Amino acid sequence: MAKKTVEDIDLKGKKVLVRADFNVPVSDGAITDDTRIKAALPTIKYVTQHGGKTILLSHLGRVKTEEDKEGQSLAPVAKRLGELLDRDVTFVSETHGEDLEKAIADMQDGEIVVLENTRFEDVDGKKESKNDPELGKYWASLADVFVNDAFGTAHRSHASNVGIASTGIPTVAGFLMEKEIKFIGEAVDDPKRPMIAILGGAKVSDKIGVIENLIEKADKILIGGGMTYTFYKAKGEDIGNSMVEEDKVELAKSLIEKAGDKLVLPVDSVTAKEFSNDVATETHEGPIPEGQMGLDIGPKTVEAFSDILKDAKTVVWNGPMGVFEMSNFAKGTIGICEAIANLQGANTIIGGGDSAAAAESLGFADKFTHISTGGGASLELLEGKTLPGLAAINDK
Ligand code: 3PG
Repeated sequence: MAKKTVEDIDLKGKKVLVRADFNVPVSDGAITDDTRIKAALPTIKYVTQHGGKTILLSHLGRVKTEEDKEGQSLAPVAKRLGELLDRDVTFVSETHGEDLEKAIADMQDGEIVVLENTRFEDVDGKKESKNDPELGKYWASLADVFVNDAFGTAHRSHASNVGIASTGIPTVAGFLMEKEIKFIGEAVDDPKRPMIAILGGAKVSDKIGVIENLIEKADKILIGGGMTYTFYKAKGEDIGNSMVEEDKVELAKSLIEKAGDKLVLPVDSVTAKEFSNDVATETHEGPIPEGQMGLDIGPKTVEAFSDILKDAKTVVWNGPMGVFEMSNFAKGTIGICEAIANLQGANTIIGGGDSAAAAESLGFADKFTHISTGGGASLELLEGKTLPGLAAINDK
């Protein structure tokens, strides 16, 4: 990465504003998945060990009204961070103001302060999400340097990432940002070949940009998940009651034409009468009969995809192969996880979001080279887009 990183600056005695992506699921005040907090630890530890005063900021959820603030405080995150680091972490329950400024003024080298959810600023005219310049300036004024480690937010141009960086404060990447860009960037732009992309999920519309970008770059694109049936329809195949995006059928047709034999569709599907784990399942090759809906790729597809994958040197996977949350429709996703887990010497990358959740809940998380912490951000990177949060970091 031709961007400066936290290793390129002097941190001793400096006030270091670190933007992390602590947008974690919280239920009844308890964090249900702390992956993103753990992913931010290397940068936080580095800053504290090098004598920096770490001032952390992050968004959590979406906040439009006063009521939305309920349950979206970063307090549980600060607490969890303290547990993971086994040290004191000071939480300041405001995003601007005297208490925050005093807490920062009182910091000793190596100490950590966490601000309240940056999106609390959205209640007052969406200042955070609309990148209000005054807000970016205010946050920048709290520190000497800015470390952007929030890869998951890098596709947003908000006050707490792009706004702060735009003030001219020295801005560098954290280790997570650096790692994500390296793994995903190399897999797409300079892959060891063959490079196989596996794209699933419900909608073609979510993956158009990725498919278009990867048609040029991948050696094969394997399609699974609900979007299969929009492609089936484009080919004139019966799809029964399967989900379809009627307005994307023409586009699917043109993608099939453009990609030629690079694009590989499932040869069979596991189907059911209803979107439910409690009804009988059937397996069908090719078209889906009337009254049935395709909810997973079938065993012959798992075999065919595994066969293509066995020689892969780079695998990029985004989107589950079926409704993996229901055990009857998880076998396709499990089969693909197994095929990837068996690869020797390949770079295997999972874009964040659903596919990361699938690999984790199905017990394969440690079998991949890299699981991204960013859903939307990794998708945009796979689409070949410039991420504003990344672009705003100083070049080397
Ligand atoms: C994410 O979870 O994808 C990031 O934290 C960004 O969150 P957002 O979609 O609410 O901007």
